Amino acid sequence: MSKEFLPRLLRPYAGDPWDIDAYCQQGGYEAWLACLKSQNPQQTIDTLKEAHLRGRGGAGFPTGLKWDKVLHHRVKEHYFVCNAGEHEPGTFKDRYLLRHHPHQLLEGCLIAAYTVSAKTAYIYLNHEFAEERAHFERAKEAARARGYLGENVQGTGLNIDIEIFDGYGSYVAGEETAMLESMQGRPAQPKQKPPFYPTEFGLHGKPTLVNNVETLSNIPHILRNGAAWFREVGPSTCPGAMLFSLSGAVNRPGVYELPLGTPVRHLIDICGQGVVNGGKVKAVFPGGPSFSMIGPDQLDLPMDFDSLKKAGTGLGSAGVIVVDDATCMVEHTLKYSHFFERESCGQCPPCRIGTQELATLIRKIEEGNGTEKDLAQLLQICGFVKGTGFCTLVTGASVLVQNSLRLFRHEFEEHIRLGRCPSKPAPLGVG
Ligand SMILES: Cc1cc2nc3c(=O)[nH]c(=O)nc-3n(C[C@H](O)[C@H](O)[C@H](O)COP(=O)(O)O)c2cc1C
Repeated sequence: MSKEFLPRLLRPYAGDPWDIDAYCQQGGYEAWLACLKSQNPQQTIDTLKEAHLRGRGGAGFPTGLKWDKVLHHRVKEHYFVCNAGEHEPGTFKDRYLLRHHPHQLLEGCLIAAYTVSAKTAYIYLNHEFAEERAHFERAKEAARARGYLGENVQGTGLNIDIEIFDGYGSYVAGEETAMLESMQGRPAQPKQKPPFYPTEFGLHGKPTLVNNVETLSNIPHILRNGAAWFREVGPSTCPGAMLFSLSGAVNRPGVYELPLGTPVRHLIDICGQGVVNGGKVKAVFPGGPSFSMIGPDQLDLPMDFDSLKKAGTGLGSAGVIVVDDATCMVEHTLKYSHFFERESCGQCPPCRIGTQELATLIRKIEEGNGTEKDLAQLLQICGFVKGTGFCTLVTGASVLVQNSLRLFRHEFEEHIRLGRCPSKPAPLGVG
């Protein structure tokens, strides 16, 4: 990075970042008051479009466009939901934002709900986030005491609140259509898109705006500082900065805010202080276990939606998992295959059966009972099930196996040949 980048969402405050005074001293709630004053939702949306803000929940969809669709829908009853379901392995940045910076999220939620004329606004919160829930509730009460939410906000006659909805607590429940289903008392199972886009058929069949915690946390800053400020960093097609959840075999895992387009190497070497035990990078999941791994020869790849897609992988919600050279890739693949098997909601048969079969075969190989035929069968199953579900879970499960076999087939073959993991000692009496 040429010029020093100053954090935007994780900016330092004079006091505790969750304290309303500290937040307001740095311009907190100014954007919300300006929206109320101008009463011009279209202007807000135009600024987001100009900023080219793309959703941080995984799909990278243009935020302004989504808000526009809901605001101008022919059906006039609208809803807003902030998606704080966060349940993917290796992603923990929304939890961090909720715990440390609840006011910028709350301000983003108020602006979003108001801009799309939502009848009711919710935050769908992972039910395991007890501490974060308490912080968000405290932030709400502090904002209420200042007249930023509640009844007759700032004397405008507007009544607005953000209700907390206890999330169902599964990975698939974070998928927006599954989330909306569970909020209506039905099983948390995704619906087919098209036609069931939340902007068309959301809560109670009405147009609904769903945005991620990080996406919404960006809103007050963009409105206060302008679209050009937001675009000062990052590539032109996906500008701004992003929070990277860095985990795995690094010395300093954590949440790091960096301009989009920062090379993977910078995150690992500078932020993460390199690989544990002086080891080397064997592979990196740049977008969580649902997207292909990259190898050590690809660490100069820029981390943004378009560059990673072009390289055959994806950024997702930027859960970067580093795997070191001491790791057995069969065992590692099994860990995530098991995750997909367990988290499949069971609605789509190819996903229910496919994730089960993939995990069973990899388990068999990991335990030393695999055959060459199992490898061919794994690839065959991947080919059958990829792209068949209502959501992307089964596609993620097959990409993982295909990618692992492409990069580390020799490790699977070695397990088959030896009848055990080569990195584990052979039982006594076995050569
Ligand atoms: C299996 C699955 C799980 C998901 N989990 C989450 C989640 O926990 N939080 C989230 O914001 N988006 C999640 N998403 C993406 C959402 O469906 C949706 O795209 C996002 O909330 C939209 O917000 P954005 O436009 O601000 O990114 C998930 C998607 C899939 C397929």
